[in-house]
Amino acid sequence: MADKNAQAPRATTNRSTVPVSDTFKEYISGNWAVRTEGKPTPRSQSPYAAARRASVSARYPGKRLIIPAGAAKVRSNDTDYAYRAHSAFAHLTGWASDSVPGSVLVLEPNADGHTATLYFRKAAGRDSDEFYANPEIGEFWTGPRPSLAHVAYDLGLLTADLADFTAVLDSVDADTLILRDGDRDLTDQVDGRRLLAADSEALENDADTGLARDLSEMRLVKDEYEIDQMRRAVAATKKGFNDVIADRPAIIAHERGERLVEGTFNRRARAEGNTVGYDTIAASGAHACVLHWTRNDGAVVPGDLILLDAGIELDSLYTADITRTLPINGVFSDTQRLVYEAVREAADAAFAIVKPGIRFREIHAAAMEVIARKTAEWGFLPVTAEESLQPDHQYHRRYMVHGTSHHLGIDVHDCAQARRDLYLDGILEVGMVFTIEPGLYFQPDDLTVPTEFRGTGVRIEDNILVTESGAENLSIDIPRTADDVEAWLA
Ligand code: GLY
Ligand code: MN
Repeated sequence: MADKNAQAPRATTNRSTVPVSDTFKEYISGNWAVRTEGKPTPRSQSPYAAARRASVSARYPGKRLIIPAGAAKVRSNDTDYAYRAHSAFAHLTGWASDSVPGSVLVLEPNADGHTATLYFRKAAGRDSDEFYANPEIGEFWTGPRPSLAHVAYDLGLLTADLADFTAVLDSVDADTLILRDGDRDLTDQVDGRRLLAADSEALENDADTGLARDLSEMRLVKDEYEIDQMRRAVAATKKGFNDVIADRPAIIAHERGERLVEGTFNRRARAEGNTVGYDTIAASGAHACVLHWTRNDGAVVPGDLILLDAGIELDSLYTADITRTLPINGVFSDTQRLVYEAVREAADAAFAIVKPGIRFREIHAAAMEVIARKTAEWGFLPVTAEESLQPDHQYHRRYMVHGTSHHLGIDVHDCAQARRDLYLDGILEVGMVFTIEPGLYFQPDDLTVPTEFRGTGVRIEDNILVTESGAENLSIDIPRTADDVEAWLA
């Protein structure tokens, strides 16, 4: 069942002190004021979410589509990780950081297309013991839940109590598809019911995979609302970077200064948005050569660079993904500047070719042309840049093993289930948003580079919007040339 709370209670009753006497139950159930709930203004995302549902509906005539938000994930025993609804669910409902765990969107086929209904666990009445005795979802424990009517107005969607979802389960047939990674338990139940209705399980799973792919691909081009959210996410992220710069004295003074960088950035993320869009990478000195350094337990030492890869996820769940590499003492050394400006040249070369109609992978190729040329010029490659760029050579990739770009949106690595034809080999369209993030990483023990390069890692990452006339760098206001970075730190 989508609602994990309907499963066996968690084994934590051994320390429950909630009184169970009938006297107490009767006493706590009475003397509560009647609640009046205002009618909310529909959220600005609701017409966009409706258009997205219409687009899915048109693609799946006659099919029942089940798109779960997913249950909260257990961290240990009776404590959960912070809840985050499945991105496809948030995209199609507009319900994001405030969604109720275990909710399910159902598109029920009708003569004209589909009827969309959002099922969620409505608040329990005072006549049940949920409100005071259920630490997972009780109002006294996790706060009140909105009413069905409130959410219906807010999102512009029909709503129903999750208890009534059993009727949907009862009608599951071979024409029912489910977003499988939305909720594994619910998927198992749907699989069981479909097995009774049809004779090929494999066929059903293929159809489900197609649904997941379509929901991922429809996010490749962002609508007006999404582009606005991306701008806001980048603006909030800029403030987080400014906070880190302002906090430099304390960061340098602490033996685990990287943790302070993370904490300072994440403080802004919680204040301005929902949280961070991914674990903050605060990589000082040679840690910058570890692409996803999130342990963040090192010192931040003047004379070194610090690579900060961080993004704020808004309450709508749209996230930025920005990297800046900063000289901790405010000034780049000659070698640091050389590497930094080479990476910037690669980023600029990649950005320069972005326009509707080119292929996504050409962006990476443009960046790699610069990375190969620079590393060849410095004498690091056993061949010329041209030879290194041959597909069967690629010596320069020793210093940058990752790709240059990924789509960005509700997920930091957005649209991850899109087909290669539409992603890496895809053609750029107006409204696409992705990163450009070349880097150069000279590992501390790399014998192919001079000692002064070893332990230096630089990445510059910007968030790019494809426009009619080419491209807009959404993060251009966050200083990115070596001179501008020094001025920013000064
Ligand atoms: N910001 C981390 C990544 O793009 O993988
Ligand atoms: Mn990235």
